[in-house]
Amino acid sequence: MKKKIVSAVLCLSMAAALLAGCGSSSSTTADTAEETTEAETEEEVAEEEAEAVEETEEVAEESEEAAEVTTVTEGVLTMGTNAAFPPYEYYDDADEIVGIDAEIAEALAEKLGLTLEIVDMDFSSIITSVQSGKIDVGIAGMTVTEDRLENVNFTDSYATGIQVIIVPEGSEITSVDDLSNEDILIGVQEGTTGHTYCSDDYGEDRVIAYTNGATAVQALLQGKVDCVVIDEQPALSYVEANEGLEILETEYVVEDYAIAVSKDNEALLDALNTALAELIEDGTVQSILDTYITAE
Ligand code: ARG
Repeated sequence: MKKKIVSAVLCLSMAAALLAGCGSSSSTTADTAEETTEAETEEEVAEEEAEAVEETEEVAEESEEAAEVTTVTEGVLTMGTNAAFPPYEYYDDADEIVGIDAEIAEALAEKLGLTLEIVDMDFSSIITSVQSGKIDVGIAGMTVTEDRLENVNFTDSYATGIQVIIVPEGSEITSVDDLSNEDILIGVQEGTTGHTYCSDDYGEDRVIAYTNGATAVQALLQGKVDCVVIDEQPALSYVEANEGLEILETEYVVEDYAIAVSKDNEALLDALNTALAELIEDGTVQSILDTYITAE
């Protein structure tokens, strides 16, 4: 590939040199006006050729970039997630991890010429696993936050998340304001933005962190906590799967979901952003979102 480009560049510059040479020899017989026109035309031709060379080089650079992306395991895009977060990631009946993130990751991997491998882990381990090079990317309905940006890079956002409050039907908690009530206990999933916001706003003593959203919801059903603060889409599916729960209409926080990538792998970040932009542009991302999220 490289060789071909080098010889193309040589050919083109030789052609340009030849053209320039012709121009100067013909100038002895040509009159001044003609000479100027000729010279300009030659210059233009040379310029166009130079541009063509530049373009060829750019294309070459782009494809070389894609080929140069290194991953933890060669040829594989290793994605860390916490698969108790429907519809972004969860186990289907065949015990496969499916969902919005799994499908977007699959489409991204394909664009990068990689095979996707999904590793299920605690949500709170994802960022450190990206940092330590255990996984290439964290794709887990993960919110972009200032704190996380100190440890990892994030791609452009591919979806919006909203922190909502799940309560038992008929609860005395009817709005975000009621979370200030000193008597109530708030369930969250460990290491999530919901965990951070609630600890900051209401104090750690009133916040109980569970390893995942599903266990937080189980605790709510058992009366161990009075409400659960979690992202809206999983909240909807937990409420649908369990009787006697509802989601308060007031939104707590609106946030952006993106993919976490190691700060040591800028090439992968760039390649993912390019691929993601293409998947957003051609409607793939939207159609994946629409498959799992039905508008109310
Ligand atoms: N959006 C929240 C956060 O980034 C929660 C994400 C939890 N994701 C999961 N797969 N369990 O903190």
